[in-house]
Order: sequence, then C-alpha cells, then structure tokens
Amino acid sequence: MAPTRPLALVTGGSSGIGYELAAELARRGHDVAVSGQSERVHEAASSLRELGVDAFPLQADAATYEGVEAFWTFVADLGRPLNVACLNVGVGVGGAFADTDLDDELRMIAINCAGTVHMAKRVVRAMLAQGPDQGDRRILVVSSTSATTPTPYEPVYGPTKAFGFSFAESIREELREEGITVTALLPGATDSEFHHRAGMGDTRFGDNSWKNDRTQVARQGIDAVMAGDDHVVGGDEATQQRVVENRRMSEPEKAARQGALARPSR
Ligand SMILES: NC(=O)c1ccc[n+]([C@@H]2O[C@H](COP(=O)([O-])OP(=O)(O)OC[C@H]3O[C@@H](n4cnc5c(N)ncnc54)[C@H](OP(=O)(O)O)[C@@H]3O)[C@@H](O)[C@H]2O)c1
Repeated sequence: MAPTRPLALVTGGSSGIGYELAAELARRGHDVAVSGQSERVHEAASSLRELGVDAFPLQADAATYEGVEAFWTFVADLGRPLNVACLNVGVGVGGAFADTDLDDELRMIAINCAGTVHMAKRVVRAMLAQGPDQGDRRILVVSSTSATTPTPYEPVYGPTKAFGFSFAESIREELREEGITVTALLPGATDSEFHHRAGMGDTRFGDNSWKNDRTQVARQGIDAVMAGDDHVVGGDEATQQRVVENRRMSEPEKAARQGALARPSR
C-alpha cells in the first residue's frame, strides 16, 4: 500500500539540532530522510523508527557537489511528494583569521553556502513541480543568531549564516504566491558537538552546560515551519533578548561583545 504519511528531509540529521528536527517531525507524523557524514546516520534512523515512522538514512559528504546530489537523488528516488525540507547541515571554524586554515574555511563555505544553495535548488524545483495538491510544501533553512552580529574568532562562520538568513528571506518572497513557505531558524548557542568540531573547546563555547537545549530549539524551529513564519530565534529568553539587542547595537559594539565570548583562552 502507498505510504500515507508526509515526507520530510533533514540534512545533517544524524545528530545535534538536525536529529532533533527529524525527531520533532517524526513525532508530528512525518517519515524522514536524513543525511550525515558518519555511519551513525544509520543509528539515528533506527531511533527515529522507534517514534513510529519510516526513516531513510544516507551517509554522504555535504562538502562536495556529489555528496549533496547523492542525498537529493536518494530522496527523489523514494518517488514520493516532499512536504518538508530542513536544510540544516552546517559546520564552524573557530580561531583568529590569521591563524585558521584556509582549506577549513573554504570547506565550511562549501557546506554552509554552496551546499545549501544546491539542495535548495533541487527542493524548490521539485516542490513547484509537485504542486499544491499533495500536502504541505515547507522549507527550513538553519541559520544562527550569528547572522545578526559580526563574529570575531569565527570570522567566516557568521557571514555564512548571514548568507543563509538572507537567502531564506529572499526565496520566501519569491515563493510566497506559490504557497511554498520558507522559514529561517536562528539558534543561539546550543548543546551539540558543534563548537568542539569547530575547534572552540578552549572558549566559553567549549562548555555545553549553559547553552540552549537542542530539543527546545528544534521544537521552536518546527513550530515556526508549520506556522509558515519567516524566521524564529531558537533558544531561551536570554537568547531572544540578545537578538533584540543586536538589532539596536552598532556593529563594532556587537563585534566586541561577541569577540570576548569566542576568543580562545590560550
Ligand atoms: N550548536 C550551536 O550552537 C548552533 C548555533 C547556531 C546555529 N547552529 C547551526 O545548526 C546547524 C546544526 O548544527 P549542530 O549544532 O547540530 O552541529 P553538530 O552537532 O556538529 O551536528 C552536525 C550535523 O551535520 C552533519 N555533518 C557535519 N559535516 C557534514 C558533512 N560534511 N557532510 C554531511 N553531514 C555533515 C553531522 O553528521 P555526523 O554526526 O554523522 O558527523 C551532524 O549530523 C548548523 O547549520 C549550525 O550552523 C548551531
């Protein structure tokens, strides 16, 4: 029998915020296709199936054209309408710009910017061709509160997230009359492996204990997706307040505040 549940995809859905986005969608009755860099994407799929839905995992490198295309083909080959697409995968690179490795930064741009554009191109065209009669057509782009401030000691990461935010708001406007919604999620610092992977263990971000709960961030993100909101800040009251302040403060003031947080201790 043909599946009756809606289908969602989540890039970088094997752990962290992406896994929680997939779990939240599963709890709301969606089958989910998830990608990840490591083999644990298969364990993630097993956990998602325990929530009573079907899950389709693929290990594929989001830093390469082939890897992004492979995940898209994998989803398209399911032969089903696509109802929700969460473009979540993203990495950081911490450290002073004079010290960081150029290859790491170019790889980050490939994942956070080029990969997001690549997957969005496939998703948008597929959703347009699919039309409005096969359920929701909703897109989430995971940006960051870093999109609202300069980010010293992660000087390229913040701009990649500002790119995602502006991109989401732009295609949202283009797709508005088509009935396809686009939402940006701007999490504040969130408990995941992100900062350790970014080489920021020796900064204030190395400690996960004070950060936002990733399940809460994901729930806020999916609530906003389902409401069709243009963007939502993910995190607690202090995180929401920080973004309000970022809209009022000058760029140098914000740069100083952010730099004090992200500066390595040695
Ligand atoms: N955590 C924060 O404080 C924070 C704040 C604001 C915004 N964000 C954004 O939230 C998103 C998710 O971050 P997170 O905190 O959940 O990070 P995370 O814990 O490091 O998880 C990243 C996810 O992406 C996957 N991934 C990483 N590199 C990949 C690659 N080259 N190819 C395929 N998959 C890859 C990982 O797969 P494996 O686990 O299989 O390696 C994992 O599923 C990112 O876009 C990030 O910029 C995070």
